[in-house]
Amino acid sequence: MKISVVGTGYVGLVTGTCFAETGNNVTCIDIDANKVNKLSNGQITIYEPGLEKLFERNLKEDRLHFTTNLEEGVKDAEVIFLALPTPPGEDGSADLSYILNVAEHLGKILTSYKVIVDKSTVPVGTAEKVQEVIGRYCNCAFDVVSNPEFLREGVAVDDFMKPDRVVIGTRSERARKVMGELFAPFVRQGNPILFMDEKSAELTKYAANSFLATKISFMNEIAILCEKLGADVDMVRRGVGSDDRIGKRFLFPGIGYGGSCFPKDVQALVKSSEEVAYDFKILNAVMDVNERQKLFLIPKINAWFNNDLKGKHFAMWGLAFKPNTDDIREAPALYMIDALVAAGATVTVFDPEAMTNVERLLGSKVKYAQHQYECLENADALIIATEWSVFRTPDFNKIKGALKQPAIFDGRNLFDVSRMQELGFHYESVGRTAVQ
Ligand code: UDX
Repeated sequence: MKISVVGTGYVGLVTGTCFAETGNNVTCIDIDANKVNKLSNGQITIYEPGLEKLFERNLKEDRLHFTTNLEEGVKDAEVIFLALPTPPGEDGSADLSYILNVAEHLGKILTSYKVIVDKSTVPVGTAEKVQEVIGRYCNCAFDVVSNPEFLREGVAVDDFMKPDRVVIGTRSERARKVMGELFAPFVRQGNPILFMDEKSAELTKYAANSFLATKISFMNEIAILCEKLGADVDMVRRGVGSDDRIGKRFLFPGIGYGGSCFPKDVQALVKSSEEVAYDFKILNAVMDVNERQKLFLIPKINAWFNNDLKGKHFAMWGLAFKPNTDDIREAPALYMIDALVAAGATVTVFDPEAMTNVERLLGSKVKYAQHQYECLENADALIIATEWSVFRTPDFNKIKGALKQPAIFDGRNLFDVSRMQELGFHYESVGRTAVQ
């Protein structure tokens, strides 16, 4: 099938590359000439495990193309995916201007039937709006479909190739047939393609992410309670998660969720609710809990240093909002750095993949280490903000030797509490007994 993907950001590039990998002929379109140039020349623009190999192969085999020209890029396509940004506006609602501008442009240039697919996370009713805008200018037949993505950064290729489900929102038989054919290779294992109306598909995406965010904030509150009552959140988590109705996944407490999806999507769903005069109480609480949770370790650090962080120096391991990505958007680490620096402390940071992004954002606000152990030099304590695998079994002797005092504040519960006691660390984590 001939496919176009408008927008070569994270979602667009994964979508385009994975469709090419299943034998489709894909043209990706972006207004950023520099990006298009790089991609055409085989230079991948995002970090995503496994993507580069597929990208290089499909580029070489001439199934993947890049252009800045929308008209040329969509000319022969049967399906056009819109993978454009929907950043939160001032009031938290999703800004649809990128999508609606492209819709208008498409309306002016389409000359034959196309299926136009909203891949971006967009508020309920967007497919209708896109349909209306295109229809204002276009004389030929077309259908607008909602097909939200459920890609997790770090495992996006796998998520695309073997999705738990594919959600397709359309009431058009013609579009349904095209989309069913296109996605058939991805659901051979038996996972469902769920056909529904456009609005239900749009809401499914927000509801899924908001539910997952709720699970996290809920467990973060249970962790706080564990500390206050003297229970162990690891035990409670296992006890709770063994109930099939609840499930073991996404119950890990920590220093809050971040990234480009959860914070934005929860906020946008609250906003959408407000627009129809509904106060979504649970989600407001989920957001409040998460804001507080990002700074969960700060009072513990303050208490350990007698409320005086002036002149103290901290090593921070992990800045990405989660492991296996270089993405630092809404990363809890950034909020902690702000709080530490505001209290007069200095911070040296290390992350296996996110250093370039952090340097671009923070400049001279922090110091940068090339290696996780170099990061510890002269530090009064180590703070762990992201659960990268390389941090899970460190050389504790080296840590002890490098720190001024053996103190670790772990926002991701990486280490066994009793082991840390044996090793003689002051060790604090989330929802478990502190080692003094
Ligand atoms: C998410 C959704 O999972 C995906 O389906 C959607 O399409 C995009 O948003 P992603 O943002 O890549 O994907 O991150 P995810 O792996 O879901 O983690 C989100 C955040 O939750 C991270 O900050 C992570 O640290 C946090 N988290 C996750 C926890 O704090 N505890 C957990 O148990 C799980």
